[in-house]
Amino acid sequence: MTVEVTPRGPWWRDAVLYQIYPRSYGDTNGDGIGDLPGITARLDHLEWLGIDAIWISPITVSPNADWGYDVADYCDVDPALGTLADLDALVAAAAARDIEVVLDLVPNHTSSQHPWFVDARASRDAAHRDWYVWADPAPDGGPPNNWVSSFGGPAWTLDPTTGQYYLHNFLPEQPDLNWWNDAVRDEFERILRFWFDRGVAGFRIDVAHMVVKDRELRDNPPTDENDDWIDQIRGQRPVYNASRPEVHDVYRQWRTIARRYEPERLLLGETHVQNLATLASFYGHDDELGLAFNFPFLFSSFEASPLRALVDATTAALPHGAWPVWTLSNHDVSRAPTRWCEGDIARVRCALLLLLTLRGTPVLYYGDELGLPDTDVPFDRLVDPVSMRYYGVHNRDAARTPMPWSADAGAGFTTAGVEPWLPFGDLAAYNVTDQRADAGSTLQFTRDLLALRREHDDLHADSSDDAGSFDDVWMYRRGERMLVVLHLGEGRVSIPLPGPGPGRVLLDTQRTRDGDAVSQSVEIEGWRGLLVALD
Ligand code: NOJ
Ligand code: CA
Repeated sequence: MTVEVTPRGPWWRDAVLYQIYPRSYGDTNGDGIGDLPGITARLDHLEWLGIDAIWISPITVSPNADWGYDVADYCDVDPALGTLADLDALVAAAAARDIEVVLDLVPNHTSSQHPWFVDARASRDAAHRDWYVWADPAPDGGPPNNWVSSFGGPAWTLDPTTGQYYLHNFLPEQPDLNWWNDAVRDEFERILRFWFDRGVAGFRIDVAHMVVKDRELRDNPPTDENDDWIDQIRGQRPVYNASRPEVHDVYRQWRTIARRYEPERLLLGETHVQNLATLASFYGHDDELGLAFNFPFLFSSFEASPLRALVDATTAALPHGAWPVWTLSNHDVSRAPTRWCEGDIARVRCALLLLLTLRGTPVLYYGDELGLPDTDVPFDRLVDPVSMRYYGVHNRDAARTPMPWSADAGAGFTTAGVEPWLPFGDLAAYNVTDQRADAGSTLQFTRDLLALRREHDDLHADSSDDAGSFDDVWMYRRGERMLVVLHLGEGRVSIPLPGPGPGRVLLDTQRTRDGDAVSQSVEIEGWRGLLVALD
């Protein structure tokens, strides 16, 4: 086996990231809504857990048609979440614990209540008219082209005042910006610097692949049975409203800005594309995004062979020097303990072992450390318009409920007796306090695994080699001496181990074999994983 020795890259290469949905982490003023001081108050948990950076979903001013992803002011904090001073305090308190703070930037669209759009829709001559994408009706009075919104229905809404349609690839309350306009580009560069200058370590970039649209607004072609299932549901391939070649200019420019800071600022793209070559293109030649999210991984089934193939194909597709990023859950999909693991904690720990030992940067979603499943949010408690529209099929609110800090009234999240903005899940079954007190808990497992990552450079080495995987068994070497054995299936199997000498189990997902010696082979039952140090 060859071990590549590469110089340490930017900070995020060795980091473990942790996504926080700010309305659901900690509520310090008793209004049932999480806030920035509520995150600051929980930094002790994050330091104890051993993460390196948090990414916080949007904290900027928002009328909340899409809960923060409709921005009405890019340079201020939403009053429900706090103030700029609260953000500065959070960044400082996090820095004192060696934790970086990454924010969320939404460049594809604003809120329809953003002053730019209020001005733009007032008249065809408005100063900000060309900041958005306007087009005349089709000859029959209908939308200018066939594009559909990611949330369903046409991507165009007629604005009666000026008689033109405006583009919205999401809700009508989220008009798309016109990235062909240099004034828009200049403004976003200013916004980047505004936050970077405050010590913000980078941005997760919302729908990063979509920002630039076809200048001629051509119709998207229809799908066929070979297309991705999401595109098939929409009936069209997103050829002209996403992944346009010109988007790369934007990220090259942003990377230049990010590189002027010390440490370099992270650009982490929500590159929601199915094709791995397209995904790879967002890294550019080490001059675009620092990390680009891998949605095919997230949407794979939790089975050894397709997942392994996907990870291998990703490695092959990424340009030299590009570093993968992996996540199991986020605020838009069902949580992995439910979606991948059917609530089975044995499987959840296998998923965590995989996430935290793959070659690349892992991103935990708040609650992953507990093995937290989705919360059953009934229709009358839904707050997300997408979950209401697709009720029974797709429920984003189920993965956005408050962090369960304890089983007490208020869950340690809010004041006892206060109704949280989204309902609590099963507090007795999953909460931080109980799991901290239990050495065998998933929380302690996650923490022990993160500590091993820090202790052993092999676990973030550049090399990863298959070590004899077969059927439901996935085995890979990390660095020189680390071996990950995952049995993602049923039954008991005997696995021959690579390498001449004996080794030792550093971490067992079931915790009963920690420290055991292993030699030529291991017996392992289904849905169990071992991290082994080879001698
Ligand atoms: C992706 C975000 O993650 C999602 O929550 C949002 O609804 C859309 N982009 C639109 O901003
Ligand atoms: Ca609050």
